[in-house]
Amino acid sequence: MAVPQAATGWSRWDELVREDRVHRSVYTDSAIFEEEMVKIFGCTWVYLAHESEIPAPGDFKTRQVGRRPVIVTRDGRGRLNALLNRCRHRGATVCRVEGGSALSFTCPYHGWTYRSSGELAGVPWPDGYAAGFDRSDLGLGRLRVESYRGFIFGTLGQAVPDLTEYLGPAASLLNQWIDRAPGGEVVVTNANRMAYRGNWKLASDNSADGYHPAFSHRSLLKMAQRLGEQKDMVYFAQHPDDGPMYVQSLGRGHTFGDQRPNYRGVGSYWRQQRPQPGREAYEQELRRRWGDEADRWLDLAVGSQMNLNIFPNLLVIGNQIQVVEPIAVDHTQLTWYSTLIQHAPDEVNVLRMRSQEDFPSFGEPDDLANFEECQRGLSIPEVDWVLCNRGLGIPDRHHEDDRGVVTGPATDELVIRDFYREWKRLMSGES
Ligand code: FES
Ligand SMILES: [Fe+2]
Repeated sequence: MAVPQAATGWSRWDELVREDRVHRSVYTDSAIFEEEMVKIFGCTWVYLAHESEIPAPGDFKTRQVGRRPVIVTRDGRGRLNALLNRCRHRGATVCRVEGGSALSFTCPYHGWTYRSSGELAGVPWPDGYAAGFDRSDLGLGRLRVESYRGFIFGTLGQAVPDLTEYLGPAASLLNQWIDRAPGGEVVVTNANRMAYRGNWKLASDNSADGYHPAFSHRSLLKMAQRLGEQKDMVYFAQHPDDGPMYVQSLGRGHTFGDQRPNYRGVGSYWRQQRPQPGREAYEQELRRRWGDEADRWLDLAVGSQMNLNIFPNLLVIGNQIQVVEPIAVDHTQLTWYSTLIQHAPDEVNVLRMRSQEDFPSFGEPDDLANFEECQRGLSIPEVDWVLCNRGLGIPDRHHEDDRGVVTGPATDELVIRDFYREWKRLMSGES
């Protein structure tokens, strides 16, 4: 089936992204993928790192913006920088490790040396260059950088609003996630890395999708259900649209799924969690030391029950931060970072670390398997469309508040439609 011909005034992107459907080529066409790397990842704010990963002057991490290698540094004066990891001499990456501490980077190819703030500090045997050679013009390329309460974003876009404006209503939800930690002191730590053979947007489509858990994660839900009907995620198998959960489109492609209302009146988050082997010893120790206050700590040892998705590459899930890195049109890296709470008892932070063994290890493989099978199915050239029309056109199903935030039932695909509205806006070059 061919894509229908464009009506007058329609762009190529209007043909491929309709209100209720997306063309399969958006997931499979490598030319579109290359364009995304420029128009999406090169034009909007992209999450880079958390300030707690580079706390001291000289600390750095290497990351990607689309497929551009980037070094995120805290320079000698304590300022944040995001630098293109590309030597100005002949193009080699100047930093080839994941992270560390260094006040300068020396390109391994011919030894040009850059400060962690990006300036070219020196070149070997400079008398080999003519009088007009100007080092000040040859610093590493720079991204504009802003940090929102520790979350560092960078952009190459010229006309991008300030980060707080970009986040919009997502900022207050990020605040709620951060403020679970006493003093808001969140520390981002070790990574659990996964990859899948599928397009990067399959992860975004799934990130606030309340339709799939009852089926995709059936084994996980059945295990939890044996321990009680109120256990974490079991509610997804029980007419989720009739319950108190909801999804929201926040604008600019940011979306949210909220499971917290399921916990009203059913006790603590901790008591509703699935079992974690060995957790009892930590609970006993917290109860021994903290008495009645232990419950407050234990609730922080488990997930937030929030799925907050910041377009295009940051997914805040439970007590983890998930980062989506496109590698190729059909290949994506997903990294789950554990988060700790500064000054919390060690037992709380050990349990937070060990929650990597819960959903990220037990549930996420279900999702990755479906992403890979979507990519296989989408390779069929004769079937064009991927539907995202669930909930569309049903009266009184959605509610829009005065900020433009639209709320709908947990299985509604309004979140996918919102993502593609922003995707189309950026791909149309309107940014
Ligand atoms: S490519 Fe870096 S010094 Fe030559
Ligand atoms: Fe899932």
